[in-house]
Amino acid sequence: MCGIVGYVGPRPSQDILIAGLARLEYRGYDSAGIAVIDENGDLGMRKKAGKLSMLRDSLADAPLGDGTTGIGHTRWATHGGPTDVNAHPHLAADDKLAVIHNGIIENFSALREDLLSDGVTFLSETDTEVAAALLGREYAKSGNLQDAFQNVVNRLEGAFTLLAMHEDHPGLVVGARRNSPLVIGLGEGENFLGSDVAAFVEHTRKALAIGQDQIVSITPSEVTVTDFSGSPVEAEPFDVSWDAAAAEKGGWSSFMAKEVAEQPQAVANTILGRVHDGQVVIPELDGLDELFIGINRVIITACGTASYAALVGKYAIEQWARVATDVELAHEFRYRDPVIGDDTLVISISQSGETMDTLMAVKYARERGARTLSICNTQGATIPRESDAVVYTHAGPEVAVASTKAFSAQITALLLLGLHMGRVRQTLTDDSAVAELADLPDKIASVLEKENDHVAQLAGWMADTRSVLFLGRHVGYPIALEGALKLKEISYIHAEGFAAGELKHGPIALIEPGQPVFVIVPSPRHSALIHSKVVSNIQEIRARGARVIVIAEEGDAAVLPFADEVIHIPLAGPMFEPVLAVVPLQIFAMALATAKGLDVDQPRNLAKSVTVE
Ligand code: F6R
Repeated sequence: MCGIVGYVGPRPSQDILIAGLARLEYRGYDSAGIAVIDENGDLGMRKKAGKLSMLRDSLADAPLGDGTTGIGHTRWATHGGPTDVNAHPHLAADDKLAVIHNGIIENFSALREDLLSDGVTFLSETDTEVAAALLGREYAKSGNLQDAFQNVVNRLEGAFTLLAMHEDHPGLVVGARRNSPLVIGLGEGENFLGSDVAAFVEHTRKALAIGQDQIVSITPSEVTVTDFSGSPVEAEPFDVSWDAAAAEKGGWSSFMAKEVAEQPQAVANTILGRVHDGQVVIPELDGLDELFIGINRVIITACGTASYAALVGKYAIEQWARVATDVELAHEFRYRDPVIGDDTLVISISQSGETMDTLMAVKYARERGARTLSICNTQGATIPRESDAVVYTHAGPEVAVASTKAFSAQITALLLLGLHMGRVRQTLTDDSAVAELADLPDKIASVLEKENDHVAQLAGWMADTRSVLFLGRHVGYPIALEGALKLKEISYIHAEGFAAGELKHGPIALIEPGQPVFVIVPSPRHSALIHSKVVSNIQEIRARGARVIVIAEEGDAAVLPFADEVIHIPLAGPMFEPVLAVVPLQIFAMALATAKGLDVDQPRNLAKSVTVE
């Protein structure tokens, strides 16, 4: 939430900042702004409510000059609505000092009172302006930006990434982070700061990860990192494994369309290098068998789409590794008193690796002595750094706010992890699932090829639909939840996912003539019993007039008499069906939102990477 970019170097910074913000816009798109120290040494600032294009247009009319030091921000509003005034940067010290911020400063009211009593006046409703004013006051005491910045961050509570610059110090940007993301990009004679590597991957793939409660200063030739008390610390270098083109839309109509189509490759990348001699061996977990031995419970914690991947993981880990597995929404997990200890493995799942709720759940688990492992898509992110081990999904950058390829890759990583754990714990009795992994990318490609037009046409017919229901059983249940979430978040249509077995316990009351219901039907080859139960559910809703759209295995004749539409997926093992069944639901949501004329990449009120609780 909120994207941050900073630049110092020999080049005019305005275009670099705007390009960086364009790559970070998925983190928030309520408003955007930049500040630049121009060639005359004056600090200029421009900020606009609305999408980045508003700021871009304004700068095209009146540029901020060729200054080579700058900071930029794209906002998802927390304190104060999305207005020009509340947009970042915020200025202080007679408009010579600019500050941008991601996160929430929890003690901002007390600090604001203190500053008000000192005669400071505020223009905005934001917590950020309080930090800027505080920094202005501290700076006035010493004239040393770094010292003043250090004093300020030590007084702030909550979660924040802050960047600041002062017109008396061209060529210097200072930054700090606490529970909020910030990475450094290392260039030749220039350096960058960003909420994530997308901010600067166009310019450099060499990066440094900064730990919690650390302060960074960048100049064109130097990067200095200290802790909050000023002691030097080593930042961890890493190479960004994807190039700038991977985060470009290319010829696609939207990032979401591109990312849906990339799923065969994303899943292939997740599997790559992790199957050896018919067994799953995850190299990152080499030497870490003790994570999986002697545990009596696994908790998978995540939010949103990632939590639905987690539900599939529960089935897989219980089946293959024979250990009780529960899924906990990260934001519920630490607000009760869960029974965890050193015999618990807490697996967190996060595409961004920065979701605040998930990060806090991981920290909580560690404090309680649990073993922690994260499944993550983003290098240099915080959650893997806070965990004992990490399995990267390698799905490539996901830019569209609605998660698609990251979801398939998360399920794939969980299947790999379940098989790895089963081998280590010697509970895996049957290797057939390992053999199936290699075929998964081609099967996804086949769903995309065979069903894309059919599903898109269906969505076009249903553009006026006001409500859609989704039903699934076993591993089809999480896919029903995910299908509903995809639809509501990008098409703003009421959608609900249910376990098919719940139908008669309430939801069937929603069924009236014409109500569209998607039903994910498991293969009869895996369990004739589960299949027959779902077919019975279909008959029950059909009898009440529902319009039934079935997602079923090719050749499943039993569903044909009761379905208005059938979407076919290839034959696959039970744990693999979810990765196939979700694809038509992603296409459906995307096509329906498009038919309604909506922006599928940037749905209203949302942001990718939810870095506040
Ligand atoms: C929905 C979606 C969200 C995320 C959730 C967790 O399409 O993308 O529900 O899955 O906010 O995000 P990560 O995986 O970054 O922790």
